[in-house]
Amino acid sequence: MNKIILSGDRPTGRLHIGHYVGSLRNRVKMQNSSEYDKFYVMVADAQALTDNFDNPEKIRENVIEVVLDYLSVGLDPQKVTIFIQSEVPALTELTFYYMNMVTLARLMRNPTVKNEIALREFDKSIPSGFLNYPISQAADITAFNANCIPVGADQLPMIEQTNEIVRKFNSIYGDVLVETEGVVPQSAIEGRVPGIDGKSKMSKSLGNCIYLSDSPEEVKRKVMMMYTDPNHIKVSDPGKVEGNMVFLYLDLFISDDSFVKYLPEYNNMEELKTHYEKGGLGDVVIKRFLINVLEDVLQPIRERRKGYEQNIELVYNIIKEGTEKANIEANKTLAKVKKAIGISYFNDNSFLQEIKEKY
Ligand code: TRP
Repeated sequence: MNKIILSGDRPTGRLHIGHYVGSLRNRVKMQNSSEYDKFYVMVADAQALTDNFDNPEKIRENVIEVVLDYLSVGLDPQKVTIFIQSEVPALTELTFYYMNMVTLARLMRNPTVKNEIALREFDKSIPSGFLNYPISQAADITAFNANCIPVGADQLPMIEQTNEIVRKFNSIYGDVLVETEGVVPQSAIEGRVPGIDGKSKMSKSLGNCIYLSDSPEEVKRKVMMMYTDPNHIKVSDPGKVEGNMVFLYLDLFISDDSFVKYLPEYNNMEELKTHYEKGGLGDVVIKRFLINVLEDVLQPIRERRKGYEQNIELVYNIIKEGTEKANIEANKTLAKVKKAIGISYFNDNSFLQEIKEKY
């Protein structure tokens, strides 16, 4: 079977190291594995509007930021098709037909949507566009016959709802749509990276992010104020590793040569952790180490971003061409869907023939 990958992000802000660990680095790995037939990456601006309709400038501004983030982590426009959701009208059309496949009760039951409604305090006045976004996501996925969706665990209800729509549609109109599968990060922590305050998921609104585009000074400042172990006051005090953000990020970003390059007194994380727990290892040492480890990852990303920023028209053309390609694919699916429902009239002669026979 063909493997068709689709992933997407809402352009509500620059992407951060949580996105990197949870999804972006995996996308780059998949891209370079060449174990796929097609790979689409979508900037979900229309979906972002469902809860930011009153702040459209934010979405418009961040479209280019997210694309720059994609390119800077190494997504290669030769291998992946990067496109903008709202510029693919077939997606909106598909959404409209899929709405018939889903009850209001089912939409209200979607756990991710429920959560988001509570967070946004929409309560009793939920915009229907927002409630419907899982249907639009089903359109995104099915339009490209995507059967592999790299997502965080919070997106699995969307995949489930997509497959329900696929089955319902196919049972009514015939086998047209393809079922899909979500691929979640290997560890739970990768799918939900906590912020530098150690409190909750890294998120723009909480101001606890390290962005992929942060300057070395910003990264340093953020690591230096990172939550560690509040009871580890003197260097000689025993420290806690669990819940300590420095160790958590080290585990996520460490590479084989990190110790040799930056902390040769230790051979591995085990040794470092043991020393910290015993006492005698200060926060400044582990924080400096983390800064180096992070910089090894972030510096090439920053460099690549700079290259693209200086060539912004090239970036514009990448998404323009990607969107053209996406339109071709999505239009094929829309044509099949409309034909299956029986609402295509001018594509071929069949409708004319029918009405001629009738009259
Ligand atoms: N809901 C996703 C998010 O918030 C973004 C998204 C929109 C998406 N359409 C998609 C992800 C299709 C995967 C496939 O991150």
